[in-house]
Amino acid sequence: MPLANAFLRPEELGQESFFDLAAAFCLDCGMVQLLEQPACEKMFHAEYPFFTGSSQFMKNHFEKQALKILAKYPPSSDPFIVEIGSNDGTFLSHFTRHGVRHAGFEPAGGPAEIARAQGVQTVPSFFDAGSASDLAGQDGRADVIFAANVMCHMPNLHSVFEGVSRLLKPAGVFIFEDPYLGDVLSGTAYDQIYDEHVFLFSVRAVMGLARRHGMEVSDLEPVPVHGGSMRFTVNFKGSKPVSPRVDEALAVETQRGLDKAETFHQFRRRVEESRDALKNLLEDLKKKGKRVMGYAATSKSTTVLNYCGITPGLLESICDTTPAKQGKLSPGAHIPVVPYEDFKKNNPDYALLFAWNHRQEIFAKEAEFSRGGGQWILFVPEVQILGAGQS
Ligand code: TYD
Repeated sequence: MPLANAFLRPEELGQESFFDLAAAFCLDCGMVQLLEQPACEKMFHAEYPFFTGSSQFMKNHFEKQALKILAKYPPSSDPFIVEIGSNDGTFLSHFTRHGVRHAGFEPAGGPAEIARAQGVQTVPSFFDAGSASDLAGQDGRADVIFAANVMCHMPNLHSVFEGVSRLLKPAGVFIFEDPYLGDVLSGTAYDQIYDEHVFLFSVRAVMGLARRHGMEVSDLEPVPVHGGSMRFTVNFKGSKPVSPRVDEALAVETQRGLDKAETFHQFRRRVEESRDALKNLLEDLKKKGKRVMGYAATSKSTTVLNYCGITPGLLESICDTTPAKQGKLSPGAHIPVVPYEDFKKNNPDYALLFAWNHRQEIFAKEAEFSRGGGQWILFVPEVQILGAGQS
């Protein structure tokens, strides 16, 4: 597999780096993780092209979460809020606006620059035990540490937890949300497996992880983003009451076999079926002379394109709103990424929806495409075609 976000310029063909993408399940601790991961610096750098603010739905989602925190920690109480992986400042900008002390760790240069332009205090480093200690020494300890779609990216998870325990106040909370293993399995969402997602968390695995650092999961909340995520609230052991939701979620995981190897063997079989169904469908459409365009050059699409063997002959292009991806080729499969406006101009027969997790937002925006006879191809939870009236 290539790196999911290594979109390349045509003149860079032949210079890509590949690695073995393989996820494994640990029978002891219940963690699902990649066996091999490229160096973080290769993934999160000045040209990292993911910007949180590219989805209005996600902007609203983070605003809601920021307002919830502001209600519990009003500016008058002078809280200190830290975000790990603050990207373009979408979440922390709400604290800037209220004059609340905050800091965001963001090593990816492009997004960090946008955050700074909005007045978001940004530390240009990876978060770990060392950088967390430095911040605690400089600005004091945090009331809240927040991370969204970041914890599952961090191979040095133990150093990250060590950093959290050094930076968090004794009564502070560490809130993080990531794609939830249970949803990945139920939706056969194999595209959540790529270089940046080194872990797929279950409640059981996170509980074990927190325990090893003198902390515990005190609450959980399923959140309907990224195809199904879980928001974990973690704090020092005994510093907060533990919600009954935690044991309930654990019982559901056991009932669903999230602790059994056979569950993952079944997942693999469903993934193989999904791959064959998508490839067959695209080949069939090509034979019929239909034009198919990809919608949104997501990180997840790199797994789908390369795993299913989708070539430029089967998919003419992928439209995307991110300028940093436009004019480039998709990693590994080399499908041209074109500006979003080309979707309307090119008017394909079918749109293969790679950003299926933003389905509601996109279907609302593209009602005209469906009304005009355009059809959507989805592959999560199964390969299917949606015509007018279904999207
Ligand atoms: P997301 O699912 O968050 O991506 P990832 O798999 O990388 O986590 O989708 C973000 C990408 O989708 C980004 O490249 C912008 C693109 N996108 C569009 O092109 N149009 C849209 O309407 C939306 C919501 C996203």
